[in-house]
Amino acid sequence: MSVPRVQRVGVVGLGAMGAGIAQLAIQAGYDTVGREVTDELAETARGRMAHFLGRRVDKGQLSEDERDSALARLQLTTDLADLDGCELVIEAIVEDLEPKRSLFAELERITGPEAILATNTSALSVTEIAAATAIPGRVVGMHFFNPAPLMPLVEIVRAELSDDSAVETAFEVSLRMGKKPIRCHDTPGFVVNRILIPLLNDCVRTLDEARVTPEDLDTAMTSGAGWPMGPCALLDLVGIDVHVHASEALYEKLREPRMAPPARIVAMRNAGLHGRKTGRGFYVYDA
Ligand code: 3HC
Repeated sequence: MSVPRVQRVGVVGLGAMGAGIAQLAIQAGYDTVGREVTDELAETARGRMAHFLGRRVDKGQLSEDERDSALARLQLTTDLADLDGCELVIEAIVEDLEPKRSLFAELERITGPEAILATNTSALSVTEIAAATAIPGRVVGMHFFNPAPLMPLVEIVRAELSDDSAVETAFEVSLRMGKKPIRCHDTPGFVVNRILIPLLNDCVRTLDEARVTPEDLDTAMTSGAGWPMGPCALLDLVGIDVHVHASEALYEKLREPRMAPPARIVAMRNAGLHGRKTGRGFYVYDA
């Protein structure tokens, strides 16, 4: 099996995940086209990448030249047509099926027939996204973890009709980005979220059942279970809205009560307490 060579990577959607993925792509030496819906959002993403690459320079992990040449590999656009010429496009837009399906159908028209189209979806079906294209063999999942530049894992998700070469190309690109990819099939939540989402929901239920504070629950799980960060801090990092949405998607597919988001975090989501990105979740953050 020949694995197509990737030189130019597209990233659609430059929120926290997309900007992190684009940062990985430019660090790995790929010419990268990042697409956002407005110039302002695109520039915010560039600022975010420049900030984190700058921190790496401060710490001696990267030279100034390496930072500058990485940033020079980044082209920003609001026009999807600029993704023409990308051999791999990674989608990181809103977690809703229909916008993703429309985007994949459009990407297929814009990119060459050999281009691989990957979704960073957390909890939707890659197969259902792929079904919106005429050549579903080219569609795979590339599920990065938050924060994408720091978390080593990428789940390479094989949908029902994914070609071997698409799966292996996504795997190779992840390796070149310095990641630890694994291959898995397109089941609800793939590997990590199938386990982590109900676990985080249990953590939130424990807040009320054991009548502990978020601080004490976080201390319990970092100091008693060796988690790198506590569940409340993690939910604030991932985004309460993102977590509730993923829980609902998994509950819809699996119908397991533990998958359903607890009322407490649904109320937080409804009140706009989305965690770090809104300045308040379980904790309060500086603007
Ligand atoms: N993007 C890029 N770089 C970042 C960053 C980000 N979002 N956040 C931090 N960094 C960089 C910064 O330069 C930072 O250094 P600085 O503060 O001096 O500038 C540097 O990384 C190190 O940051 P920390 O000191 O905070 O690093 P830690 O050693 O404390 O580790 C952690 C941070 C890796 C986040 C660690 O706490 C951890 O592993 N937490 C668990 C995270 C986790 O479980 N993620 C998975 C969530 S589930 C998910 O994503 C699935 C999805 O589908 C919902």
